[in-house]
Amino acid sequence: MNLADTEIVLGILQNYGYSVTKEPEHADVVLLNTCSIRENAEQRIYGRLGNIKTLKNDNPNLVIGILGCMAERLRKDLIDKKKMVDLVVGPDEYRRLPELIDTAIGGEKGIGVRLSRTETYDDIIPYREDGLMAWISVMRGCDKFCTFCVVPFTRGRERSRSLSSVVKEVEQLSQRGFKEVSLLGQNVNSYFDGSNDFADLLAACAEVDRSMRIRFTTSHPQDLSDKLLYTIAAHPNICNYIHLPVQSGSNRILKLMNRTYTIEYYLNLIDKARKIIPGVSFSTDIIAGFPTETYEDHLMTLEVMREVKYDGVYMFKYSPREKTKAYDMGDDVPDEIKTKRLQEIIELQQQISYQINQDLIGKEEVILIEGFSRKSDNFLSGRTDTNKVVIIPLSDLKAGDYAKVKINRATHATLFGEFIEKVTYDKKSALTT
Ligand code: 5AD
Ligand code: SF4
Repeated sequence: MNLADTEIVLGILQNYGYSVTKEPEHADVVLLNTCSIRENAEQRIYGRLGNIKTLKNDNPNLVIGILGCMAERLRKDLIDKKKMVDLVVGPDEYRRLPELIDTAIGGEKGIGVRLSRTETYDDIIPYREDGLMAWISVMRGCDKFCTFCVVPFTRGRERSRSLSSVVKEVEQLSQRGFKEVSLLGQNVNSYFDGSNDFADLLAACAEVDRSMRIRFTTSHPQDLSDKLLYTIAAHPNICNYIHLPVQSGSNRILKLMNRTYTIEYYLNLIDKARKIIPGVSFSTDIIAGFPTETYEDHLMTLEVMREVKYDGVYMFKYSPREKTKAYDMGDDVPDEIKTKRLQEIIELQQQISYQINQDLIGKEEVILIEGFSRKSDNFLSGRTDTNKVVIIPLSDLKAGDYAKVKINRATHATLFGEFIEKVTYDKKSALTT
């Protein structure tokens, strides 16, 4: 989400005549886009700011700015108390950046931290370097108010872009040769532009270019509709991969988290999705050590992981965030216990991922080639529809090609295969080999 926001910011600044430098020492303005979701994300920014401030020794006119969720949350601290930055701009005020940078250049602090009920940056063309994959932010904010989460406070209320503007962006990306688009929102399932829901949006994006893969994140289990599942099933280029955060396997904890579903509902949803979309895979988010979480609650989370067999899990230690309801519940699970539970979650997931990958040995998959493998130029790396990395020996395939491969070997994180044949998709019609 922040990468997509950064591209919007660069788009706005480019329109105003700025350009990007890769060398911090050459910059007139340095902007850090920040995240407040957990405390360590904020701590990292304070570290970075310390480094960047040294650039001011050589360039006293350098403007240093904080963007994003921390701006909204820590304006006073950053500007008044710590006097660390010249500019603080929250996620809904990026249109004012050129003006606020001018203010900072003039020697005053540039501050814009109001949240908006309507801003979607619908008309801004994000600055993107050429490549294969692009993010498109389709909605902003969140109305769910999970009790642990600061997002509704830092990013404000839910609002959606128009279907037509998103489709136009996908068309432009297709013309530029992009092969994969990820539609982004805190809860894309509640996308609604006044007449179209998220399933409509997904279908419209998929129909732009059949040779382009469409991904999306994040789905809240409460709003994942049957219509959406049937839409994914009906479009071969919508990836069979759903990120469906469960957070905990315990109904008591889910209730305290205000997640608004029970684990039985969640597991039923997974079953239903698997029936409607054969071969669909899931990833999830899990929080270890939410207030009052007992060992039994933790075991229930491990049980859900065994039952669902996620392809991937993003795992976090609970981090108390001011303003949230959970903040008032205290933070009573000691850090060592959080760490231990997190470790058990990580280890279990590694076993599950290993088993899922072993079961793929001997099977054929279609991958999108992304380039050389990270470890060696003698190998190419690509991804399956379900987002798994596959390494194959070098051939005359190039980044952006699709290839059918056979899987020969697997670790918990990577598949290794051999090239079978190139696959081409006609932009507008069905699959052809
Ligand atoms: N502590 C730990 N993890 C959190 N997340 C959100 N807020 C917190 C928090 N206070 C996790 C959730 C969410 C993901 C984006 O970040 O699992 O789904
Ligand atoms: Fe935060 Fe919950 Fe909204 Fe996700 S759905 S952004 S966890 S409040």
